[in-house]
Amino acid sequence: MSSNIDLVVFGARGDLAKRKLLPALYQLDKAGLLAESTRIAAIAREAIDSVAFIQQTGDLLKANVTTGDWDDKVWTRFSRRLHYIKIDFSQKKEFASLREWIVDKRTMIYYLATPPSLFGPISKHLYDADCVTSTSRIVLEKPIGHDLQSSEQVNGSVGTYFTERNIYRIDHYLGKETVQNLLALRFANRMINSQWDNSCIDHVQITAAETVGIEGRWSYYDKVGQLRDMVQNHLLQLLCMVAMEPPSSLQADEIRAEKVKLLRALRPINEDKVEDLAVRGQYSAGWISGVPVVGYMEEEGSESDSSNNETYVALKVNIDNWRWAGVPFYLRTGKRMQDKVTTVVIVYKDNPHSLFPETNSEANNKLVIRLQPNEGIQLEMVSKKQSLKERLETEKRTLNLDFFDSSGESRIADAYERLFLEVIKGDQWLFVSRDEIEASWRWCDRLLSSWREKKVPTKSYSAGSWGPSKAEILIESDNRSWYEG
Ligand code: BG6
Repeated sequence: MSSNIDLVVFGARGDLAKRKLLPALYQLDKAGLLAESTRIAAIAREAIDSVAFIQQTGDLLKANVTTGDWDDKVWTRFSRRLHYIKIDFSQKKEFASLREWIVDKRTMIYYLATPPSLFGPISKHLYDADCVTSTSRIVLEKPIGHDLQSSEQVNGSVGTYFTERNIYRIDHYLGKETVQNLLALRFANRMINSQWDNSCIDHVQITAAETVGIEGRWSYYDKVGQLRDMVQNHLLQLLCMVAMEPPSSLQADEIRAEKVKLLRALRPINEDKVEDLAVRGQYSAGWISGVPVVGYMEEEGSESDSSNNETYVALKVNIDNWRWAGVPFYLRTGKRMQDKVTTVVIVYKDNPHSLFPETNSEANNKLVIRLQPNEGIQLEMVSKKQSLKERLETEKRTLNLDFFDSSGESRIADAYERLFLEVIKGDQWLFVSRDEIEASWRWCDRLLSSWREKKVPTKSYSAGSWGPSKAEILIESDNRSWYEG
């Protein structure tokens, strides 16, 4: 456990801090993973005093952590670490009150849960107020910019005051236990690893479907869309974990270098192919779990009569390298879909010659990696049907590995707990490097510009469905279909 560390959370009154950051820190304290001396400064613009902030945080945590996780003794210890400081982030002189709180020679971790437009100014004010030393770390929430150029600006301005070694860019998908498990699955299992290429794999599907809509964020989301919100970061990071070459070690630099290589090998989606390779959708009214929900244009906060912003994306992505030549990766993600699921499905090739004519292609081996919910891995195989009547009839069977059941733990840690822990340890392996961010923006910018040039409209889909029918055509025109497991 790293001692000598203090944490500062900017944007401590925001949604992310309330829903994720403060609960994650509480859980780390409960698990005995915060050093006794670690203090936490919560920073926001609101004029409330520290006592009121602590009281409200206690109420919030009590309401949010599951009953079994609440512990009065842990809360008493945790609350003693907390201190609220009111700062207007745009006012340089107000950072003096943070400076007063800082104890020299301790390692400071600054967590910026603020809009990215503030990353540069906050870094500068921290530096000017003498709050930055060579050991200070800064944690940046996504989005880092909205295109390559703006991400370069954000990275450049933060990089003026913090070295790359001390910048931790969050992609919370990398903090998910099951995403890390992809590394173990691929690189600790010779059997899997030796068949992880175009000689055995037909195609790969990555799905991140959500039932939620845009949750009151209309004006923000309408400028962003699902490609920037989910693909540029989470889906491309998943793709990297699935498709990158084996790193020579699990050191951050080695893993990140492999991810950059993979991102640079993604074939650009240009105008001439964009309508065949990419589908945009927008949800209309429908039903989610038996409850009626409005369409995107009728969502609270909607500011215009029409919008061509996408709430759904399906893509066919090609990777131009030796391992993956000829193996398409189908990616899809959307809001207001039928179920909340994140899966990676590896579909293996047919046998070169079938001894079992009745085995149809539905029986192809599939490795299904369920990232959420019910985290685990299933291997779909073919085995003989137990029967005296038939000579050798086959059927599809499933080998099931349930991560949760087999872990012996009472809960799966939230992504933010793992990510805080790694920042505290000073290990960047689960954080995104500047090169990765820029490579993924370069690829997304190309696609966005192809959509713009071709004026590609969004296709409507009903809330509660699996997206527009064009997304079915995207995969079915290759004689394949989305996994529905
Ligand atoms: C966030 C997106 O990064 O990820 C949200 O901004 C999305 O729009 C969320 O809902 C999904 O995260 P998870 O962990 O619930 O899959």
